[in-house]
Amino acid sequence: MLIKRDKWLQYRILRNGSSLAGRLPKTQLLKKNVLSKMLHHYQSVVLKPRNGSYGRDIVFIKRNGANAYRVQNENNAVTMRDTDKLLKWLRKKNRGRGYIVQRRLQLAQIGNRPFDIRIMAQRKKGSSFTWNVTGSYAKVAAQGYLVTNVTSRTIPVLEALKLARIGDRSLLIKAERIALLAAKRLGERYPKLRQVGFDIGIDRKHRIWIIEGNYKPDVRPFRLLKDSSMYRRILWYKKH
Ligand SMILES: Nc1ncnc2c1ncn2[C@@H]1O[C@H](COP(=O)(O)OP(=O)(O)O)[C@@H](O)[C@H]1O
Ligand SMILES: [Mg+2]
Repeated sequence: MLIKRDKWLQYRILRNGSSLAGRLPKTQLLKKNVLSKMLHHYQSVVLKPRNGSYGRDIVFIKRNGANAYRVQNENNAVTMRDTDKLLKWLRKKNRGRGYIVQRRLQLAQIGNRPFDIRIMAQRKKGSSFTWNVTGSYAKVAAQGYLVTNVTSRTIPVLEALKLARIGDRSLLIKAERIALLAAKRLGERYPKLRQVGFDIGIDRKHRIWIIEGNYKPDVRPFRLLKDSSMYRRILWYKKH
């Protein structure tokens, strides 16, 4: 089965028939009435191309009074009067690729910069093997950005949790357990899948959320960490 990079499809796989529903920020496929409904429910939402974007085409929208919206993309923000204008702007940007609308999480911060966690899950060849966490790091957003994958800083997770004063090893272990459950679910759907790099968010109330799973995660950040043991483990799993 083809493993397709599609945020909407992945959301549905993870949400159905598993205990993960409460770990997934509410997500819908973008349509005009969907956007206004979501903005009615939530103060802020995030729009993302369903086929992924490396953080570039992600748009954050915040309700601003009765009929205005604050729209942020990369490190630029503009105010728009209505959602029609916004949708037109998006159409021009996305060239028909399709967007998802997601509730925005209030991610925990380090010095006013949001961060999230990458957790790498892998299994050995042969789908009967169980999933393991083989590495993790935290990504801190660059100044002025709301996404953590554009020129972000990479630090060990425990250091990030400490700097943000939101938890310790037990929170990381909890996040790892959630990533493993999600990996298992995706692995049931895709028997050939052997690695998923999860973006895990921790909000200001210390709740853990699955933002997305990447089927072809970049391993370079692991190579750049001072502690090279994770990187070596990741390469080992890729080979076995
Ligand atoms: N619902 C959300 N609430 C808050 N921040 C988000 C949300 N979704 C994504 N982000 C931020 O944007 C980054 C990129 O989003 P992601 O879904 O991983 O897409 P991609 O990596 O394909 O660009 C995340 O790592 C996170 O920092
Ligand atoms: Mg991502």
